[in-house]
Formats: sequence, C-alpha cells, structure tokens
Amino acid sequence: MNNNSNHLRISIFGLGYVGCVGIGCLASQGHTMIGVDRQQSKVDFINSGKATIIEKDIDGLMEQQYQAGRVSASTDSKKAVLESEVSFICVGTPSTSQGHLNLNAIYKVAEEIGAALKEKNAQHVVAVRSTVLPGTCEKVAAIIAEHSGKAEGIDFAVVSNPEFLREGSAIKDYRNPPFTLIGCQHDWAVETMRKVYAELDAPFLPVAVPLAEMMKYVCNSFHALKITFANEVGNICDTLGIDGRQLMEIFCKDTKLNISPAYLKPGFAYGGSCLPKDLKALRTIAHDNYLKSPVLHAIESSNEYQKDLALNKIMEAGKRKLGFIGLAFKAGTDDLRESPIVEVIEKLLGKGYEISIYDPHVHISQLTGANKEYIQSKIPYISRFITNDLDEVINASEVLVSVNVDATSREKLKAQGNTTQLIDLSGSL
Ligand SMILES: NC(=O)c1ccc[n+]([C@@H]2O[C@H](COP(=O)([O-])OP(=O)(O)OC[C@H]3O[C@@H](n4cnc5c(N)ncnc54)[C@H](O)[C@@H]3O)[C@@H](O)[C@H]2O)c1
Repeated sequence: MNNNSNHLRISIFGLGYVGCVGIGCLASQGHTMIGVDRQQSKVDFINSGKATIIEKDIDGLMEQQYQAGRVSASTDSKKAVLESEVSFICVGTPSTSQGHLNLNAIYKVAEEIGAALKEKNAQHVVAVRSTVLPGTCEKVAAIIAEHSGKAEGIDFAVVSNPEFLREGSAIKDYRNPPFTLIGCQHDWAVETMRKVYAELDAPFLPVAVPLAEMMKYVCNSFHALKITFANEVGNICDTLGIDGRQLMEIFCKDTKLNISPAYLKPGFAYGGSCLPKDLKALRTIAHDNYLKSPVLHAIESSNEYQKDLALNKIMEAGKRKLGFIGLAFKAGTDDLRESPIVEVIEKLLGKGYEISIYDPHVHISQLTGANKEYIQSKIPYISRFITNDLDEVINASEVLVSVNVDATSREKLKAQGNTTQLIDLSGSL
C-alpha cells in the first residue's frame, strides 16, 4: 500500500508509445503501475525493466522505476483491473481503409475491463488516453456497463484524457503538458484524476467528455495547418528571393496577433478592407509565379461558406421580420467595406425579408469615400433599414441576429431571454 494518499495503483492497457511512456512517467511520480498488452514480448520487456519503444531517456527511466518496484506487466487484464484503482486505455486506433477509425482494440479492452469489474466492489476510473472521436467514451462506458452489470457514474466512470506527447521528446512532453484535460461528468472521478496528475505543474482542466475527445483532433489539425501555411509562405518567398525562414521567425515574434489567441474564436466570417484584399494579393503573387497555394486558396471559400451558413440559419428560423445588431465588419467602427453581414442582408432583402438594423457607430449620412461607395453598391437604400434605437429593432423583429455587439446591446439582448428568437453570429452573448 502506498503511503502518499495521492499515490495510486494504475493499470495501463496497451504498451506501445503512449502506454510505455505513461508507465515510466507515472511510476516516477510515485504511482504503482501494472501494464497490460496482448503481446507477450512487450509484457516481458516491462517485467525485465526494459522499455518497449525507442525513445530519448526511456531506457534509464524504465530501469530505475523497475528497480524501485513500481512497474510490472501482465497479459492478464482481470488481474490488472482488480489490482488497480484507475485503468488507462492506450491501445492503437489505426485508420480503416476508408479513413474511419478502427476502434476494435478500444472496445475489446472495454469488454475485458467490464468483465473484471464484475468481480470488483470498489469504484474504478477508466481513462481513455488513445485518440478517439467524440462519442467513443460513451460507447466504452456502455460496453463496460454491459459486461460488468455495474452503473457508470456510480461504480465506475469513463474519463477522456487525451495525450499530447510527441515521439522524440515524449518524456519531456509528458512531464510538461500544456494542460491536463479531463473529460468527465462525475466529481469523484475528476478528483481521482487530480491525484493521478498531482505532481504535474500544468493547468488541470475538467471539461465535458466530448470536448476532451475532440481536442486532440483540433490540435493536430491546427499543427498540420501551421506546417502547410508556413510551407506555402516559404514557397512564395523562395520565388521572390525572400528568406522565408527569417520571415517566419520574425512573424512568430508577434505574440499579440500572430501567435496568440487573437482571431481564434469561432464566430462569424471575416471582412473589412484589409484581410480579403491582402489575402487575394498574396494568392495572386503565388499564381503569377506558377505556384499552387491550396491552403491560401481555401481560406476565402471557407469564409464564403461561413456567410452561407449564417444565411441558411437565419432563413431556417422561418420568420420574415429580422433585426440585425451590428452592421460594420468590426464592433466599435463604422467600416462597412467587405462587412460579411452586408452580403447576407443584401441576399435577405432580395428574398423579401423585412429588415431593421441597429449599429450605434454607423451613421449613413456621415459615411465617406470607399466606405460610402461600398455600401451604396451593395444596398443603395440602406438608410431605410437603419435606426439608432435598439428597442425599435427589438420590438419590430421576430428574429434578432447578433453580429457585433457593444456592452449595452449585449445586456439588452441577453435580457430578451426567450421572448424573441436570437441568432448569435458574434458568439459573444
Ligand atoms: N504515438 C504518439 O506519439 C501518440 C501521441 C498521442 C496520442 N497517441 C494515440 O494513442 C494511442 C496509442 O498510440 P501508440 O502510438 O502508443 O500505439 P502503439 O501501436 O505503439 O501501441 C498500441 C499497443 O496496444 C496493444 N494492444 C492492442 N490491442 C490490445 C488489447 N486488446 N489489449 C491490450 N493491448 C492491446 C498493442 O499490442 C500495442 O502494444 C493511439 O490512439 C494514438 O493515436 C499517440
């Protein structure tokens, strides 16, 4: 029995990359580890103090933890579950030939854990460490419940706990994660996971299960996007004789807008006088130099799609009287150039919807230059639809669309409650 109340007995299913690193690192934090794999050779490696993978610093770590008596392995899943308080599932999730996830190994382990739990009286936490799509933990819980006859949330809990390590720096990454994400809806299981990671100096974030399941896919897709974006920029720089590496190094020094949370909140399409124009210019330089830039090209179509989605959402509400809060492309400005909602409103007017608009910063009579020209080319009679009275818009509308809102409008819209249907494009209500 461990002396430290934070030290647990943990079983790990799957002794590959994630499992082996997990065994070594968790043991070094004082937990007692028992590994399970269907391959006897991997079990034998662990039981002789050896790693099952080639990785920086793993050999010394496994030897040390084995000598300390904190590491063992078995092919007997029942024994492992009965001798532990937490089970990690770290088995592979390869792609099928059609590109779907093959979750057979995950479900097989869930059956085995369920069969073992039938004979266990204490609570047990099952943490899915493998990368799985939203909904998988729910299925794992159902399989365990079916095979154990026990209830999820009471006798056992299934937790999503994605792994963020990279091969080559796996131990360092394991010990320095950006955060520890725990997808779980049961407080007692969250507290058990807090003990598992008590030694890690990283934010501990309990969240909804599907959010945790989704996170790894979003992270890896973003990493792929970053690589391809940097490569396309590098290709264009190369043809122009510009040092692309130096450019991107300096680009990364901007931690205010470039490498920062700026522009990373789901909401409505981008617009304005700069982003659409400058993106087009960069794509055109690529094209003029016989280069393909598929990522840069896809940005605009994705942005157009966001406008289409907004239009469909508004029309699907099935009401004719629509009120828009915000018209400019950005809150606190009167800049209507390429404002995405202008295009949406233009289409709705063409379909005969009754529209009223409130934007405290847009005074049509005071617009000048390109700003005035833009709105006149899109909606010549725009002043007919705009009012500077928010209540007038609220009272005249069956559906309110929040595009960009100031603090006062936000409070008023929130106070609307269920009285008027609200479509929040801004994502800020
Ligand atoms: N490798 C990485 O860098 C990394 C990083 C983060 C997340 N992940 C994810 O973690 C998961 C595991 O990845 P990995 O690279 O460690 O896989 P891996 O293929 O190296 O290891 C999986 C292990 O599971 C074992 N296994 C399969 N079915 C089993 C069963 N029924 N019972 C017991 N053991 C079983 C296999 O024998 C193998 O040893 C995957 O979902 C992967 O996407 C991997």
